[in-house]
Amino acid sequence: MQKQQHSNRLFVLKPACLAGLSLLLLLMTGAARSADLFKGKEVFSNYCVSCHGADGVAVHPMAPNFQRGEKLFVSDLILLQSISKGKGSMPSFGGILSDSQIMDVIAYLRTFSR
Ligand code: HEC
Repeated sequence: MQKQQHSNRLFVLKPACLAGLSLLLLLMTGAARSADLFKGKEVFSNYCVSCHGADGVAVHPMAPNFQRGEKLFVSDLILLQSISKGKGSMPSFGGILSDSQIMDVIAYLRTFSR
């Protein structure tokens, strides 16, 4: 009787372990990816510097000053929307940059005001 109970417990435990393992794999591969500042800087130099300036002080008269943190006091998701869809005279980057590239460049924007 004792042995029977023991093997039953193992039977229940295995699927739980598998579920835990696949959750861990999921976290490691995509969901928990953190922004890459080096890639962000590269994107900024290629696509944003002409209006926003190498030091985050805008060249374009209507663009915010990132050194003063202008427009950056919102969540990454709000900024992702603006950059992806475009805003005012800023073009849309949705078809040019992937969401993860945009998240990288947002992390880089936040370094100007530090
Ligand atoms: C053609 C010039 C131009 C380029 C290129 C450009 N921007 Fe902008 N950007 C602007 C202007 C102008 C605004 C102000 C828009 C407004 O509020 O009317 C702005 C606003 C922003 C804002 C504030 C958005 C908000 O929600 O208020 C962010 C963040 C931003 N730009 C990031 C970027 C990034 C990142 C890139 C490169 C991928 C980029 N911009 C490229 C001109 C530009």
